Amino acid sequence: MSDKVAYSRHGDIAVLRIQNPPVNALSQDVRAGLLQTLMQAEADEGVKAVVIVGEGRAFIAGADIKEFGKQPLEPYLPDVCNRIEALPLIVVASMHGVSLGGGLEIALSAHYRVAQPSARVGLPEVHLGLIPGATGTQRLPRLTGTEKAIDVITTGRQVKAAEALELGIIDKVSEGDPEAVGLAYAQDLLDSGAARRPVSELDPPAAIDWDATYEAVLKKGRGQISPAEAVRAVQAAAELPFDEGVKAERKIFMDLMQTDQRQGMIHAFFSERAVGNLPELKGVEPRTLQSIGVIGGGTMGAGIATACLLAEMNVVLIEMSDEAAKAAKERIAGNLAGALKRGKISQEKHDNLLTIALEVSQSYDSLKDVDLVIEAVFEEMSVKKEVFGKLDAVCKPGCVLASNTSYLDVDEIAASTTRPEDVIGLHFFSPAHVMKLLEVVVADKTAIDVVATGFALGKALGKICVRAGVCDGFIGNRILAVYRDAAGHMVLDGASPFQIDKALVDFGFAMGPFAVSDLAGLDIGWATRKRKAPHRHPEERVPTYIDRLCEQGHFGQKTGEGYYVYEKGKRGGTPNPKIMELVKAEQQELGITPRDFSDEEIVRRYMCAMVNEAAKVVGEGIAKRPLDVDMVLLFGYGFPRYWGGPMKWADIQGLPNILADIEGYAKEDAWFWQPAPLLKQLVAEGRTFDDLNKDASK
Ligand code: CAA
Repeated sequence: MSDKVAYSRHGDIAVLRIQNPPVNALSQDVRAGLLQTLMQAEADEGVKAVVIVGEGRAFIAGADIKEFGKQPLEPYLPDVCNRIEALPLIVVASMHGVSLGGGLEIALSAHYRVAQPSARVGLPEVHLGLIPGATGTQRLPRLTGTEKAIDVITTGRQVKAAEALELGIIDKVSEGDPEAVGLAYAQDLLDSGAARRPVSELDPPAAIDWDATYEAVLKKGRGQISPAEAVRAVQAAAELPFDEGVKAERKIFMDLMQTDQRQGMIHAFFSERAVGNLPELKGVEPRTLQSIGVIGGGTMGAGIATACLLAEMNVVLIEMSDEAAKAAKERIAGNLAGALKRGKISQEKHDNLLTIALEVSQSYDSLKDVDLVIEAVFEEMSVKKEVFGKLDAVCKPGCVLASNTSYLDVDEIAASTTRPEDVIGLHFFSPAHVMKLLEVVVADKTAIDVVATGFALGKALGKICVRAGVCDGFIGNRILAVYRDAAGHMVLDGASPFQIDKALVDFGFAMGPFAVSDLAGLDIGWATRKRKAPHRHPEERVPTYIDRLCEQGHFGQKTGEGYYVYEKGKRGGTPNPKIMELVKAEQQELGITPRDFSDEEIVRRYMCAMVNEAAKVVGEGIAKRPLDVDMVLLFGYGFPRYWGGPMKWADIQGLPNILADIEGYAKEDAWFWQPAPLLKQLVAEGRTFDDLNKDASK
């Protein structure tokens, strides 16, 4: 007998209580327990109704994701769902917390549904590279109609109780202990003589233009297949008898289970949760985080200040002049107005944040009481050191001193203070109140509770925090520099920036590297090239054609011209004809005969460069685990989530294949394509990056 579902009797009503902490996932023993207790209720003389309820914080969060990819075990979830609906007694689902995926499918199989006002329901399987696989695509549209069902299933969004009631997903909203609420509702139904109401017997949903909807959803998902396949499953609900529709749904579900995208998305799901879980931080108490200092009110500083204000922290922002202070305040006000417009904060909170929680000052003395201060000033070591000298003089003992530098040496910054143990890097991504990634850069002398404080701040701001060691560019920007170079080399050799951008967008990136350069500003790359020029290795290939454009004052989107030409009022740009002329001139100068590249080769070289540098970053301990790199690329660099990240992508391709390609490319450019020692080692041992993730979690 499974102990995951408890059976109890309350007069005429039996309660099946699912108890599988933390979120009542539907693991095999829960499914078995549900079947057993359903049979028990049916056999229990006098029982007229059954209430299904979850213990703890949720009704049911869905199928047990840990079982995916393994041999499926009986009883299967669709059979459990159909058994619930077929019960000759009235079945009520009483829902609280979340009812997601298989959890909602269980509820949809009950004859009636009641939910707490705070409850949320949804079918988030598309976020795992799947579709609902236990009758959800067949039952939901029979309640909501085709269009609403397609919206809920293809977005995987969580629907709040009030909307769920409106959509017909639930029958009633009622507050109180979920078991008591379920019992009361079941009693009312019995008292009123209500009949069983199987959703499968309701009319099938209406037909729509299925092909057009399929294409539209595929396009929106930028290559992600599961949402589009969900449309086909709903189509089956409209066109086939219920049982046949269930079979069609199951087939699509099982096919998707075999895909790389499913593997990638489930890797992303678990990595997102594992990334902030560092063994060295277990039991370490972070320092207090009530008031935050921010130095510099430019785009980055204002974004950081906004993020902290939205997390209900007090912020003291330092700017150098009246004018700069005014501009900083305006930037923050603009950010907060955006949050108000999107419904993230109330008008009252918005006003309080601006007038009470934010102080803009021109004196460092205003920082004497803050708990943590983040500088976001100009990226120049001498400027950073000057700021840290001032902070060292005014900040209270124990105050965490953080730099938002994106590549400078945090050890050197720390050494310029009398308290290097309090110094850390907190590398935000712009716009800082929107982007989810935070690299927590741990310097040689950073105290462990300061690291814990960095993570605690990130968590409070709703960020995905990744621990990084000190090196030029930390995890993300260091890897970016290398794969960006690989793209540059391909341009010199004959691929156009526009072909490269398109090939990578087709692969699933939000934007191609050249469009990103235009967005970030070409002057940034130009300055970096100048900075690095004296230290270049003689064999390093550095394209300079784009410097000619910069010399003419064209810096990308902000000046209206870069790789692309941007017209006011129009979204996106069109290829700049000047670029190919400049490239041609450089090719002639270097004696290069351009050749054709297939899109496949472009993606392969780009990805191999990314994976190779990432393996160096992990091998050197800059990132602790491959999954840390995956999360940096996913949350900071627009990497397609359905590939799980570059390391997961590499595992799926097979590390021996990746290494063989890198060694092949090295025949043309041995300096650039030096295989990472870690990659060679894993191939020699027949292991994967994911094996390293598993080792780290032991
Ligand atoms: N299966 C297995 N474990 C799960 C799980 C699931 N469905 N959902 C959550 N967990 C685990 C998490 O991995 C985490 O474990 P650790 O503590 O070991 O890291 C723990 O439960 C708590 O989860 P969170 O940290 O995410 O807690 P939260 O309160 O922030 O969020 C949640 C809770 C909203 C349920 C969120 O975990 C979530 O969205 N879960 C996934 C829900 C989902 O996708 N369900 C559909 C499953 S697929 C399906 O059901 C297919 C089908 O039709 C057959």
